[in-house]
Amino acid sequence: MEDPSSPTTITLRPFRTTDVDDFISWVGDDRVTRWIRWSTITSKEEVLTFIKEVCIPHPWRRSICVDDRSIGFISVFPGSGDDRCKADIGYGLAVKYWGQGITTRAVKMALSQVFKDFPGIIRLQAFTDVENKASQRVLEKAGFVKEGHLRKYTYIKGDLKDLFVYSFLSTDTVPHPLDP
Ligand SMILES: CC(C)(COP(=O)(O)OP(=O)(O)OC[C@H]1O[C@@H](n2cnc3c(N)ncnc32)[C@H](O)[C@@H]1OP(=O)(O)O)[C@@H](O)C(=O)NCCC(=O)NCCS
Repeated sequence: MEDPSSPTTITLRPFRTTDVDDFISWVGDDRVTRWIRWSTITSKEEVLTFIKEVCIPHPWRRSICVDDRSIGFISVFPGSGDDRCKADIGYGLAVKYWGQGITTRAVKMALSQVFKDFPGIIRLQAFTDVENKASQRVLEKAGFVKEGHLRKYTYIKGDLKDLFVYSFLSTDTVPHPLDP
């Protein structure tokens, strides 16, 4: 029998066109898209196009999965030219799975993979809305260092936002996914 106290097993894998129905259950939810640049998408056709044209060709976008079914995403977008030393990380999770440590585990899993997949990347950076406490906590638990407060830094969905910037270097120690 499964131990009810044991954490849900999660995996990270590339998106597939067959993820449409699972994908729409979270990308169609304003509570998930509120803090990210993605629009809320509620049409199956638009989700399919988004998976095909944006998610699959993305340099490193993974579906966070339970039982191989998509419950969220984690993306790493590498810079180029003089910014080739760094990449931006972002994520989102279906509301029903919030508060179980799943995104923190997914971020830790991504950390151990992306520095292998992109040996030129020395710095992973994340930007969070100053009001997005859950995302800040995820980054802290995953070992990111908070570097600063960027005042009136960018527009997100029409609102001018203050952001915090965090970083994790390839020389930092990646915490074990199941460590608190
Ligand atoms: C941010 C997000 C991915 C977190 O996912 P999650 O799987 O619930 O995260 P975890 O369970 O790993 O950790 C969340 C932490 O934030 C804490 N938290 C959640 N809401 C909080 C709040 N309002 N104030 C303070 N802490 C909060 C939780 O208690 C937990 O910390 P703890 O383990 O110390 O108790 C999820 O809320 C989400 O999808 N948000 C919308 C998309 C988004 O914001 N993406 C990030 C953009 S930068």
